[in-house]
Amino acid sequence: MRVGMLTSGGDCQSLNATMRGVAKTLYNQRKDVEIIGFIEGYRGLIYEDYRIMKSKDFSGILTNGGTILGTSRQPFKLMRVPDENGLDKVEAMKNTYKKLKLDCLVVLGGNGSQKTTNLLRQEGLNVIGLPKTIDNDLWGTDVTFGFQSAINLATQTIDCIHTTAASHGRVFIVEIMGHKVGWLTLHAGIAGGADIILVPEIPYDINKVAAAVNKRAKEGKRFSIIAVAEGAISKEQAALSKKEYKKYIATRQYPSISYEIGAKISELTGQEVRVAVPGHMQRGGSPCPYDRVLSTRLGAAAGKMILDGEFGYLVGMKNNHIAKIPLADVAGKLKMIQPDDEMVQEAKLMGFHLEINCKWHIQHYTANGVLPDLKM
Ligand code: F6P
Repeated sequence: MRVGMLTSGGDCQSLNATMRGVAKTLYNQRKDVEIIGFIEGYRGLIYEDYRIMKSKDFSGILTNGGTILGTSRQPFKLMRVPDENGLDKVEAMKNTYKKLKLDCLVVLGGNGSQKTTNLLRQEGLNVIGLPKTIDNDLWGTDVTFGFQSAINLATQTIDCIHTTAASHGRVFIVEIMGHKVGWLTLHAGIAGGADIILVPEIPYDINKVAAAVNKRAKEGKRFSIIAVAEGAISKEQAALSKKEYKKYIATRQYPSISYEIGAKISELTGQEVRVAVPGHMQRGGSPCPYDRVLSTRLGAAAGKMILDGEFGYLVGMKNNHIAKIPLADVAGKLKMIQPDDEMVQEAKLMGFHLEINCKWHIQHYTANGVLPDLKM
């Protein structure tokens, strides 16, 4: 039995732990398993760049962040576009699969990557997807691996900022990763005790943010912490068309939304404001214990599915149980924070002003006209 494996898109802490889960299960259950690791994601599959893995390659990697196979971003929208030498990438991937006589291809990837996995499924390949992303925005699974480790790091950042903000009596903006969804910001913001949380799904009113900062100051609170997702948008920006919004991003005079919010808050409140951006640190380091367990479970489940010949699924979690979600259902959808999400309701109870506007997201981010199931 020959199984191909690749890690695609932005990395995260628990990729190696997940591959190890798949590999250990396969090696343990069958003697004739050979695993082919493609280098740098779909690039390796397209250009036949691979390594024949050995059981020892998967040993000692549970706690190692990053990916032993390397990764790259190969945008889904360019998959049908020939490369600079006229190569048809989809045909090339199919040829590599056939040439290597693979029985299955396992793809560890996020939203964009799983769209390509589904494309390969439609093209007749046996595929299995595993949900990687610190953003936790893959549709159909409650959790993705990498998310919890990133929450830990983002929370640690807010914790560190807390002490210095309190000493100096400053307003701090902490920018958390997540261009399209705010799960990481919402979780880290709550865990770190941020006073205001701004996520892409809830366009903010800068005057209300400033009022909340002023209110805290009036109550004698010497500092405020605002957790801002990198994709946070104001109500005015949310009202723009996709084209107008792109133009605004291209011409924005600030390095990111946090600096823009910082400048406005400083102007509106007269308080001293600082911005902290942990950036890619949130994807780095060792996977946390939760992710190690999650990855091992997902990997083992994927291994069993390969042995049972069950293909075409994303292996995810539903209510703490392994779930097999058809890739056809997953592709092109985003799991966003919903208005009726319990965490949102709880945050509201504690005084956050939250307004969900998912329409904006549907307009800007859904692929192929497929709308996300808002009731997921
Ligand atoms: O998808 C994961 C993610 O970390 C997002 O949160 C972030 O916006 C993006 O990747 C950053 O991408 P890159 O590594 O290409 O800069």
